[in-house]
Amino acid sequence: MSASQSDPVRDYHQRTKHRLDGYAAGPDTLDWDDQPVAFRDYGNCPRVGLKLREGGPAFADIAAGIRQPSALPGSNSIGALLACSLAISTWKHHGTARWAVRCNPSSGNLHPTEAYLALPDTDDLAAGLYHYRPQDHQLEQRTAYPQALSDALFGDLPAGSFLLGLSAIPWREAWKYGERAWRYCQLDLGHALGALRYAAALLGWQVHSLEHLADAEVAALLGLDRASDFETDEPEYPELLCLLSPACQAVTLPYLLPEDLSGQLAGLVWQGKANRLSGRHLYQWPIIDETVRAAMKPRTALVTEIPSPLPPPLGLDCELSAVDLIQRRRSAQAFDGSTGLDRDAFFALLDHCLPRAGLPPWGEQVEPAQLHLILFVHRVESLQKGLYALPRDLHALEPLKTAMRSEFQWQAVADCPPHLPLFQLIGADARRTAARLACQQAIAANGAFSLAMLAEFDQVMAVGSWAYRRLMTKAGLLGQALYLGAEASGLQGTGIGCFFDDGLHELFGLQGDEYQVLYQFTVGKGTPDSRITNQLPYPELRG
Ligand SMILES: Cc1cc2nc3c(=O)[nH]c(=O)nc-3n(C[C@H](O)[C@H](O)[C@H](O)COP(=O)(O)O)c2cc1C
Repeated sequence: MSASQSDPVRDYHQRTKHRLDGYAAGPDTLDWDDQPVAFRDYGNCPRVGLKLREGGPAFADIAAGIRQPSALPGSNSIGALLACSLAISTWKHHGTARWAVRCNPSSGNLHPTEAYLALPDTDDLAAGLYHYRPQDHQLEQRTAYPQALSDALFGDLPAGSFLLGLSAIPWREAWKYGERAWRYCQLDLGHALGALRYAAALLGWQVHSLEHLADAEVAALLGLDRASDFETDEPEYPELLCLLSPACQAVTLPYLLPEDLSGQLAGLVWQGKANRLSGRHLYQWPIIDETVRAAMKPRTALVTEIPSPLPPPLGLDCELSAVDLIQRRRSAQAFDGSTGLDRDAFFALLDHCLPRAGLPPWGEQVEPAQLHLILFVHRVESLQKGLYALPRDLHALEPLKTAMRSEFQWQAVADCPPHLPLFQLIGADARRTAARLACQQAIAANGAFSLAMLAEFDQVMAVGSWAYRRLMTKAGLLGQALYLGAEASGLQGTGIGCFFDDGLHELFGLQGDEYQVLYQFTVGKGTPDSRITNQLPYPELRG
């Protein structure tokens, strides 16, 4: 039996490919009356209102890593963090329909990601575990921490530190997308993490994603292992715990949760129960839960490999405040088919996609990138139309050349900054091909460029099945850099989760699983839909 046959997570990846001759298994019809509720609600819990955030530094300064003064955690600053990351940014209206869109994007706007905060005592928030409610920008307190637990969790951290956990409810996505939905949960998680990192930078906070922790530990901390508090057919899974702390203070890593955490938590009073999201569950997708179980992560060592240092990023030409830019970010549903991007802005946007430690949306530590970009360039000033490659770390250049189509030219793009390894593979009008392979979506053809994120799949998966989640999360994180980078360039982006996996591999000349495309993205000038009107969220919190 080959390695790929023996790993259920690799099997899931193969099985959930969209193919030119058939889509991955999904519902035959959408059961609209049974659409899962968009918002988690624990019901009978004490709630705390949060503040909104207006004004503040320019997005270009945040993207350049210009450090902001560190705020103290409290309802003001945590309100600002969430208002610029996971909150509703607009209510949309069309006829009698009304729906919310958020600062973070989500496949199908279905938002499987939930957020929890584990806080020490702050000025106006008591120590405890809270769930974030985007529906009213409030926290609901699931449990209060006694002093001993608060000391055990936060005692060794710099003052002003706290924990933020992310989880996923796959049913929200699976209701619409069937088996492929779990991929989207992972991509959405990366977007949420990226959104948090940009927002944290506004507050002078660093965000360490504590990837070394085991899922079981994170589940315990977030109260997700309390089976009787959740509907059995709507499981919510732990994904990631992050440590937020003042950017100016060093944090000793690895941060570990207390050994007897489960015991301490079991002795606390827990409040509320998770709401049921939908009643019928007409279609079921058991492969998702089986794959989640196979991809559960044990505690692991910290990754210590670091990439070669990069020069400071090329400036993004944008005068908007970060708050305005983050809250105006939208996925384009159609592009005008004519507006392009000038060459320098294109280089700056690509440069924003290179991982630099400490700059949002990247972490405080970055590893050599194992996700690379294959670009379909349609309308970039004085750049020939065609296929291009951007290995996001130079270690990948020679292996990619060997693995990809032999007729690709790998011609370095003239005038490209030396640290940005952009290569032309072939000159061609690739618009029709780009749209066709993105499940016939015109947005892949009508913008300035679209791209595929190509992962070093075999290499990463050799670490363990759980590594699939980290890889997908990184693709989502990169997607978030592209979304905000596109807005900062005066354009819009759209993540593309619907694509024909092996059609792309064939186009690139790739065989086997050494490389796999995990996500696509497209950038161009969005055309607004004049039938839809927008309304600001949380009017009761505005002056
Ligand atoms: C992982 C992911 C996959 C997506 N796939 C597609 C896609 O294939 N086609 C599309 O038009 N939009 C796609 N989108 C965009 C979402 O539909 C969009 O984020 C959602 O409707 C919310 O709108 P907003 O991004 O403006 O907040 C995707 C977004 C994400 C995060």
